Amino acid sequence: MARFQPPQRYSSPHLPFGDRRDAPFYGRHIISVRQFSRDDLTYIFGVAHEMREMVMRIGAFDLLKGKILANLFYEPSTRTASSFVAAMERLGGSVIAINEVRYSSVTKGESLPDTVRTLEAYADVIVLRHPQQGAAALAAKYARKPIINAGDGAGEHPTQALLDLFTIREELGTVDGLTVTMLGDLRYGRTVHSLARLLSLYRVRLNYVSPPNLRMPREIVAELEAKGVPQAEYDRLEPVLAETDVLYVTRVQKERFDDPTEYEQVKDAFVITPQVMAQAKERMILMHPFPRVYEITEEVDADPRAAYFRQMEYGLYVRMALLAMVLGKA
Ligand code: CP
Repeated sequence: MARFQPPQRYSSPHLPFGDRRDAPFYGRHIISVRQFSRDDLTYIFGVAHEMREMVMRIGAFDLLKGKILANLFYEPSTRTASSFVAAMERLGGSVIAINEVRYSSVTKGESLPDTVRTLEAYADVIVLRHPQQGAAALAAKYARKPIINAGDGAGEHPTQALLDLFTIREELGTVDGLTVTMLGDLRYGRTVHSLARLLSLYRVRLNYVSPPNLRMPREIVAELEAKGVPQAEYDRLEPVLAETDVLYVTRVQKERFDDPTEYEQVKDAFVITPQVMAQAKERMILMHPFPRVYEITEEVDADPRAAYFRQMEYGLYVRMALLAMVLGKA
């Protein structure tokens, strides 16, 4: 008996209907911030800005009508997962949400490549969060549809870094010339790994403030040093607070510690209070990717320099831009 041959059109890597194949980022994976040039960022932020205007004017529109996003999360998430859902739905698309892989066939032992190849049979783009560094790159090796890295272990969180940079631009009007101080768990905090790399495309000064065992990974410091980025490391905030334009605070990543006593020793090493903010510039912003635990007290929330809730909203516009771009609609 003749073997079944799938019709040729099913083997096309992307749905062709109405997509702009010449659009920048069409069909591309978003795995690491290292794939972006400064021109790319200007383009992404331009699209994100337009998305913001559109949401403010009309709330939702049908740019991605008929497109489907698979949101595949092997780790907990509030902001990244829900903002990608909101982004897709505001663009008229729909979402397959696998927020708890324990309810999927992953618990039966299904591999990441098989899970990805299954989901791309149903969806046009896959957003993946995974506890292992390199998982998004592995998934991209097997996927014909775009994979967007939503955090791979202590590796990278590129869409967070994009929204962080967009926040800085929207709030302070520029990135060039700024002093950015990163504070907290710089070893396991993937958001600061991605953000430091993205900032190296601009004329910035970077300060790293952390306990000695949670310093920025040496390979990232070396990478930025080779690009001529001025960097300095401290174990106290006081020496650099007054010169800081952006104070980027991170949570100590409890889930990445092998030894719980080591976590207990550093979990509240730095706490931002109104008294700390009194020593900072009048025109600066305080950022945090969230969730926060001990690092910023709630009294700080009323300070207009506290940008972290606005930062979450900027994430919606950046993720709308990315979905539209990889699906050839921007
Ligand atoms: N910033 C961030 O990644 O938050 P979630 O873990 O809630 O997605």
